Amino acid sequence: MSDLDTVHADHLHCERKAAQSALSLIRSYPERSDLVTQMARLAHDETRHVVQVSQLMHRRGQPAAYDFGDDYAAALREHIRKREPERLLDRLLVFAVIEGRSAERLGLLAGALPDDQARGLYASLASAEVRHRDIFLSLARDAAPATWRERASELVAIEGDVLANREIIPRIH
Ligand SMILES: [Fe+2]
Ligand SMILES: [Fe+2]
Repeated sequence: MSDLDTVHADHLHCERKAAQSALSLIRSYPERSDLVTQMARLAHDETRHVVQVSQLMHRRGQPAAYDFGDDYAAALREHIRKREPERLLDRLLVFAVIEGRSAERLGLLAGALPDDQARGLYASLASAEVRHRDIFLSLARDAAPATWRERASELVAIEGDVLANREIIPRIH
């Protein structure tokens, strides 16, 4: 809360990367028509979020910032297995975990931001990211009905460790 400029600037890039990740799944799995449709819609949501965060930053008169990388997502991506079909399952579940954690963080901001408009925006973004988490989980279930749940539990535990070992800094993750 003491450095919202940095949080919003990081958040803008989180939304951009979420759109790019959804589109990257379309590049990898064009034969999965359900995934293509859902990821195209999700990327559309995320690019709208980029617009909304950008407008908030503009209203605040705050400076833009470059994205200097994301250790959090990189640490999770290390656990994505290389071979198919495990790779698809892991990519979907890692994105589900990131969406779920994002929803938590955006919801916390929604409860704490100083102005009504920003609070409303963050509440709506938090609920969108919950929907996205559930889309990734349902694609994971379809991709690997027998194993998705156990693997989801493993990745959730890994994500908890990754976060526990991070310093507290003004970022979404
Ligand atoms: Fe988003
Ligand atoms: Fe999302």
